[in-house]
Amino acid sequence: MDQIAVWQMMIREALSVQIGPRAAEGTGRLRLTFKRNKLCYNSGKIAGHRRCGSLSYLAKLRIEIMKKTSTAIWRAADGNERAADAGDAERRIAEAAAVLREGGLVAFPTETVYGLGADARNSAAVARIFEAKGRPSDNPLIVHIAHIGQLEELLLPYPELAKRLMERFWPGPLTVVLPVKPGALSPLVTAGLSTAGVRMPDHPLALRLLSLAGCPVAAPSANRSGRPSPTTAGHVLEDLDGRIDGVVDGGPSGVGLESTVVELDGERTIRILRPGGVSAEALRAALPEALVLEAEDGREAPAAPRSPGMKYTHYAPQGELTLVQGEPDRTAAYIQAQEAAAAAQGLKTGVLAFDERLDRYRADLVIGFGSERRLEEAASRLYAALRRFDEAGVQRIWAEACRPDGIGEALLNRLAKAAGYRIYEA
Ligand code: TXA
Ligand code: MG
Repeated sequence: MDQIAVWQMMIREALSVQIGPRAAEGTGRLRLTFKRNKLCYNSGKIAGHRRCGSLSYLAKLRIEIMKKTSTAIWRAADGNERAADAGDAERRIAEAAAVLREGGLVAFPTETVYGLGADARNSAAVARIFEAKGRPSDNPLIVHIAHIGQLEELLLPYPELAKRLMERFWPGPLTVVLPVKPGALSPLVTAGLSTAGVRMPDHPLALRLLSLAGCPVAAPSANRSGRPSPTTAGHVLEDLDGRIDGVVDGGPSGVGLESTVVELDGERTIRILRPGGVSAEALRAALPEALVLEAEDGREAPAAPRSPGMKYTHYAPQGELTLVQGEPDRTAAYIQAQEAAAAAQGLKTGVLAFDERLDRYRADLVIGFGSERRLEEAASRLYAALRRFDEAGVQRIWAEACRPDGIGEALLNRLAKAAGYRIYEA
């Protein structure tokens, strides 16, 4: 019997044998949680986490069993695996696919960020996504597919322009919002809209999983709502361990920022709803005949969002973040002065800056974005950096802005959101 089964048996026994009517008058409230094969408890009376105590002690408390799901980890890092390991990886993916088909919640790597997947036709499964994330139900989910053929049963006829986008950018970080066939998806996926965002991710493990599952998979980013999106399986577990059935661990995701979400207006206009892995320049270069309109909420707080997800403050670190833009020397001087003033007040400070100026900062935690000539690297580091500031308990953070070129547009969009649109022009 594994450790969890032993504890489950002990708790059942404690509940039936020792928790009598007096338990209700117990000395506190006990929350039991399973974490990495260990039973932890905490209550208002006992601070922190400890290993489970004696049964007689448990009997004094009112018991609440919280997280019952144990989250599986399917290690399937792609790339330089030996043939034997590749066979193991395939078996693990097949297991994860079976869990998806049976209505489970499986987190998986994509080239952008890790997604939290469920069968998009199964409302009970999709409802669990919203519950596990704590996500508002009016924010629709992106539907992931492995083969173009899957679109036939999901979508109503759509513009040629969409087909050209798919040919050019799929598999890849582009989500296209298109009219959905009534009844083809759970209404929870579309949040009641007549459209759905669809995408084919460019990640071998994601494509294999989606292909073996054989169903359209609804998948938001695999973080608790309001937390930075996860770019590793470890981030997924930080937020969702015990709340989901499993995670496929494929190592760090590549792009590090979510897909670009676009909607089409007829055969000529592409409107970017959320900037992401495919830049406006790349869309223009691929389809010169189309008019590409940039995201309304680029770096300003949105007025009337066209995409429901745009109205929520996402990606916020626990500390107060300010995005500083302007000429590099003035930017650095402003951050130095602000940081010194905050430190003098006894606040824990952090700076997120490009390597070119990294040595100018004296904050408690200084995190490098890489060189400002390689914004792809900065994009892939952003969310992990925000999580590190939280772990370190940093209270005030300043981030250097970048050029709005290519992936820089999406990077600035996420930084502005993380800052709650607190932007200083140096
Ligand atoms: O890269 C990504 O897109 C990742 C990976 C896992 O694929 N997924 C992701 O999902 O970022 P999520 O749920 O965090 O963001 C989905 C965005 C939201 O802003 C949502 O409002 C928008 O897509 N969206 C989804 N369906 C839509 C629709 N029918 N119309 C307009 N916007 C839609
Ligand atoms: Mg998200």
